[in-house]
Amino acid sequence: MDEFGYRGSRLFCEDVDLETVASGAGTPTYVYSLGTILGHYRRLEKAFAGVDHLVCFSMKANSNLAVLAALAREGCGFDIVSGGELYRLKKAGADMSKVIFAGVGKTSEEIGAALKAGISMFNIESWPEAERINRLAGAMGRRARVDFRLNPDVDAHTHAYITTGKSENKFGMPMADAARLFRGAGRLKNLQVTGIHLHIGSQITQVKPYLEAVEKAGRLIADLRRRGHAVSTLNLGGGLGIIYNREAPATADQFAAAVLPRVKGLGVKLLLEPGRFIVGNGGVLLTKVLYLKRSRSKTFVIVDSAMNDLIRPSLYDAYHEILPLRRGSRSPARKVDVVGPVCESGDFLAKGRRMPLPAQDQYLALRSAGAYGFVMSSNYNSRPRAAEVLVHGGRWQVVRRRERQQDLVLGETIPAYLGK
Ligand code: LLP
Repeated sequence: MDEFGYRGSRLFCEDVDLETVASGAGTPTYVYSLGTILGHYRRLEKAFAGVDHLVCFSMKANSNLAVLAALAREGCGFDIVSGGELYRLKKAGADMSKVIFAGVGKTSEEIGAALKAGISMFNIESWPEAERINRLAGAMGRRARVDFRLNPDVDAHTHAYITTGKSENKFGMPMADAARLFRGAGRLKNLQVTGIHLHIGSQITQVKPYLEAVEKAGRLIADLRRRGHAVSTLNLGGGLGIIYNREAPATADQFAAAVLPRVKGLGVKLLLEPGRFIVGNGGVLLTKVLYLKRSRSKTFVIVDSAMNDLIRPSLYDAYHEILPLRRGSRSPARKVDVVGPVCESGDFLAKGRRMPLPAQDQYLALRSAGAYGFVMSSNYNSRPRAAEVLVHGGRWQVVRRRERQQDLVLGETIPAYLGK
């Protein structure tokens, strides 16, 4: 469900004609629909209303300040993975008591900043990390709330790069070690261990892997309690899938209906860390056709966005639907490669895509680009990064200006020893 669609021949985002945005803000530009993003958040909130829970938006998916501020004002919590993300949340005015800090490689500086900011808790990913948080919290006269991220060894049936819950992944610690970890943490006086965290992967379309994970969690929680450990939180991570092409992912309600009966009996507060589910279909990337080019075997549509703007097709072979901002050409569908200007054969946005052949200078929208789009963009080939726009009803505003060429060399210096 999203608020992008045609009105007559024009593609709209909520009540805004996207061609107005493309010509006003230029391209490439990411456009986010506030209504869609908040709609997804609210749907999840509603689905889980029956249990004590907190939805923590996984801001690695989209960390634009405007998006964060909008979610914060709705009461959403956040899942962060770096000091930089913590910094953004402070700027966005988020409630720190709803912030969870995850990630395998937290530095002392990042841990210190998070403790100082008063975040809710840390997901601990290794024993030395537990010791470090304990030491730093002690030095600050604080007690840190933590849980242990465990690896449930569940196959999420998704892309290899975004499967995280298998035992060969770098994330979490073996479930079999949980009792030992809880016992050990009992000796770390500046830690308060609240429970366990499981994240099995991303773009998961079925409920089955979650059920497997919850069942394993339930057995483990019972075992930990038998051994005298208090367990009051269960974090099921993120990973809820969305529609890019022909997927039929479980809805928030279906997910809740499957998981809740099992969670209810556990007597824990449920934490969720969705990223893609909230923002994925809430954003598009606007781009303009620069040239059409035919080789002997292929037709290339060369656009002004590239792998540096949206890397998902190159990196994961991901599918993003491509729509013209102005529909109506009756040109029959053709098989084309949509490619960018970056000097790599891996620079493509779509391969072998059947679509009406667009005209030069025509605007296109790449759909489902609200998650892991702008945040994974880079300056490769010295391309300034795209602008970001937030739409709210009939209003739109640039919420991150397009980078300028002078931004590209920010912080760089030519050493004097190079001479003149
Ligand atoms: N929690 C943890 C511990 C995670 O590692 C992740 C994502 C999330 C929550 C949020 O997952 P989500 O709900 O968005 O699926 N760049 C890839 C996705 C990488 C996901 C990394 N971890 C992509 O473009 O598909």
